[in-house]
Amino acid sequence: MNNIPNEFKINKQINHKEYLIDGIISKWDGNQTNVYSTLLCDKDDKEPYLLGNTPEMSGEYALKALEAAHSAFNFGQGVWPTMKVYERIQCMETFVEKMLTKREEVVKLLMWEIGKNLNDSRKEFDRTVEYIKDTIVEYKRIDRKGATFQNKSGVRALIRRGPLGVVLCLGPYNYPLNETFALLIPAIIMGNTTIFKPAKHGVLLIAPLLDAFKESFPPGVVNIVFGRGREIATPIMKSGKIDVLALIGHSSSAISLQDLHPQKNRLRLVLGLEAKNPGIILKDADIESTVKECISGTLSFNGQRCTALKILYVHEDIKEEFLSKFVIAVDELKLGLPWENTLLTPLPEPAKPKYISDLIENAVNLGAKIMNKKGGEKQKNFVFPAVLYPVNKDMDVYKEEQFGPVIPIISFTDISTPIKDMSESNYGQQVSIFGKDVDTLGPVIDSMVNLVCRVNLNSACQRGPDIYPFTGRKDSAVATLSVHDALRSFSIRTFVASKDNDLNKNILREMIDSKKSHFIRTDYYL
Ligand code: G3H
Repeated sequence: MNNIPNEFKINKQINHKEYLIDGIISKWDGNQTNVYSTLLCDKDDKEPYLLGNTPEMSGEYALKALEAAHSAFNFGQGVWPTMKVYERIQCMETFVEKMLTKREEVVKLLMWEIGKNLNDSRKEFDRTVEYIKDTIVEYKRIDRKGATFQNKSGVRALIRRGPLGVVLCLGPYNYPLNETFALLIPAIIMGNTTIFKPAKHGVLLIAPLLDAFKESFPPGVVNIVFGRGREIATPIMKSGKIDVLALIGHSSSAISLQDLHPQKNRLRLVLGLEAKNPGIILKDADIESTVKECISGTLSFNGQRCTALKILYVHEDIKEEFLSKFVIAVDELKLGLPWENTLLTPLPEPAKPKYISDLIENAVNLGAKIMNKKGGEKQKNFVFPAVLYPVNKDMDVYKEEQFGPVIPIISFTDISTPIKDMSESNYGQQVSIFGKDVDTLGPVIDSMVNLVCRVNLNSACQRGPDIYPFTGRKDSAVATLSVHDALRSFSIRTFVASKDNDLNKNILREMIDSKKSHFIRTDYYL
């Protein structure tokens, strides 16, 4: 601890005991789960550092949270789903102001709990705040659009978007704040009520925000519980009272959770799942910029991003040049502690270094070479990224989403090879294509847009900017998330229709003038 700058030190253990159900923050007096950081255990003799602990809540309490969310929604009759849009927006504005006061605390915990470097931890917080502000602006726009009557074939209609019901929200450990809130915030603002369980790592950092949720929203709108995924999510899903499963994680978890729900057609899904995004390097690619993009694409946050480039295809003609420059660039990367702002940082999952080493060993046994000098160097909390070439389809690193620092490379002579592999893959999130010749790129892009949902030209894959659609085909996603699309994904179109006659016209006019309905109105919040 001695060499750590004072502002980033954790001076005492954080024993977090509180949870939020039905607008009340209560103290848990049952078992606690220890939260460890792997940051300091680079040497073999050092064990993960105990940061603190969080409640290990039971299924009984999960059901209390569900009951609170269910009553707050009250079949769409609750205070929150029937509240005026501008009042819901005001609650969200209050929340974001309160959240901003917790920036330093959350950023520090992002570094300690998941090892994200300082700049990226700050970016995660700031991007989330921006996402909330953009969501407010977008919701106002959607509300304005819904504030006009349509009239077709003698039927007048006022069409708006309404909430779906109770949302179970489960986020991932690699973006425990941003990706979770990119589900939670649109779900809340559209009038749904929610139960939120933090991810397996990045749990303590939610604790400083409990008060902000409690003070900003009516009771039962946001319920925050802590514990094991299985213990908490199983009874909630089995109850059949969940209307939306919002999850960023693995497709196998998404399937198990859906299977527990007794009324599947009631259950809407908003899922961001795994991916195996390829980077495809054509023979006329600009080598310098391609190497740079492939470094950040494969290794930002140690490759622990669903959007990371998880396999590279390099044209035979430039294979030698690309590989020689790429391996130098990889070996120049520094591993450091998060506040040192290195690209590579310790891995938060204690079992990950062994998993990555096993992938390397498996590939080497099946004929791949470790192309870079430092590739595979292991310490207790990290494995130095190995550039593996030539990789084939029998290797685990080809088949699995490694979600960590290892880079498989395949060479090709005909573009139909990577395209065929993409079409046979279970995943379909994004691709990066590097090249210049329009005659080649044109048809390749035309094929790729129907295999994935974002083709990145001469740049690494990424989710942002958040106003763009984030989605995937096959096992990579269900529904679309962007500032705008998320508001759609967490709502449904619902409308009031009336025959265009004097009786109905007078009723509607009087309703608008008297402001007796929160739904039938033509004003909007500026
Ligand atoms: O883990 C997947 C994230 O959505 C990736 O987001 O591309 O902004 O890092 P990013």
